Amino acid sequence: TGFITSDTGYKSTGATRSAITFLNGEKGILRYRGYPIEQLASQSDFLEVAYLLIYGDLPGKEELESFTHGITRHTLIHEDMKKLYEGYPEKAHPMGVLASMISALSTFYPDAHNTQLHPEQVNLTIRRLIAKSATIAAWSYRKSQGFPIMYPQNRLDYCANFLHMMFALPTEEYEINPTVVKALNTLLILHADHEQNCSTSTVRIAGSSHASLYAAISSGVCALWGPLHGGANQKVIEMLEHIRREGGDVKKMVEKAKDKDSDFRLMGFGHRVYKNFDPRAKIIKKVSDEVLNELGVDDPLLEIATSLEEVALNDSYFVDRKLYPNVDFYSGILYRAIGIPTEMFTVMFALGRLPGWIAQWKEMRDNNEPISRPRQIYVGPTERDYVPLEKR
Ligand code: CMC
Repeated sequence: TGFITSDTGYKSTGATRSAITFLNGEKGILRYRGYPIEQLASQSDFLEVAYLLIYGDLPGKEELESFTHGITRHTLIHEDMKKLYEGYPEKAHPMGVLASMISALSTFYPDAHNTQLHPEQVNLTIRRLIAKSATIAAWSYRKSQGFPIMYPQNRLDYCANFLHMMFALPTEEYEINPTVVKALNTLLILHADHEQNCSTSTVRIAGSSHASLYAAISSGVCALWGPLHGGANQKVIEMLEHIRREGGDVKKMVEKAKDKDSDFRLMGFGHRVYKNFDPRAKIIKKVSDEVLNELGVDDPLLEIATSLEEVALNDSYFVDRKLYPNVDFYSGILYRAIGIPTEMFTVMFALGRLPGWIAQWKEMRDNNEPISRPRQIYVGPTERDYVPLEKR
């Protein structure tokens, strides 16, 4: 009692009041704490944006230094956690590794289970999470390649350090390319928050039971993994590769996506909230053009993506349903250009989204939100009597 309708998929249910991210889907506006995404993507730095999302304002010089230092000094993961990597199969998907390793962090730092939150403890957990997730992610890739792991280097900033842990070889000096660092920085900023999306809502719901921040974030990673959400970035590239292998016929793929008898969807197209354009997709398209040019990368998938977009945007099916390229449509092209392997794309999304998840979890706890517990409209059988097995 007390409610009259259900809203499957929460299409029009406001689950909370939030001061973190503003989004206007009709006008294609996205702002973190009031700052337009376009300005942050071109002028800010990922850890600065992380601070902004989590603490509400852009940091001053000292605040940023202390935040960055706090993260840098926690990039190592416990040596015993390294052993866990030995247990995964060789082809383990890095999202599965990331989710379980973040969950495992909670066993190494049990203080985070305190249901009474102490600001110092929370701040420490936040720094540990941001720092260690990057190491965990890079090591999951090294492990999948059979390469020795690379320890983090504290002299490097967040993005450069991540690239170092991913790609450096013990036998050679690894040269950091500033174009690549900048592209990675932009991508992570664009992913950093997106109000009450599926994974963020998952983090808030899991955290509302006062499970630890590690547990809540691990749930968020799992929710992000699906192809309708963050997993779409991997699926986009797989789809483009498929089109290429089949001879480059983009129209065929568009027709398949329109066919209601197939459950196939055009990956990287459509969005629950954006009904005009996704401002992140616009930025990524521009940045990927620049980066591919600067790096001298000639990716045949870019051409396929561009003509696929053109065909879809001129097709009444997509026009009528207001389906536009979303953030995932071009992000894969950019990740490829900077050397990130396809299987790692969703992990990159998770690293980017982490500050947003943390900010949303913190807001939920700081506001003392009650445990999330939706109701339902029951549509099952009315009361019936138990029938013993021999009589069924
Ligand atoms: N290809 C073909 N048809 C589509 C697509 C698509 N990509 N997206 C939506 N539609 C159709 C859908 O079949 C429905 O048609 P009809 O009204 O005839 O039944 C109509 O458009 C409305 O779709 P919906 O499923 O009700 O919309 P939704 O808000 O529930 O879903 C979405 C949003 C993003 C899950 C969906 O557009 C989709 O599956 N897109 C492809 C996957 C993708 O790119 N996901 C990444 C989203 S952005 C980043 C992120 O969230 O992580």
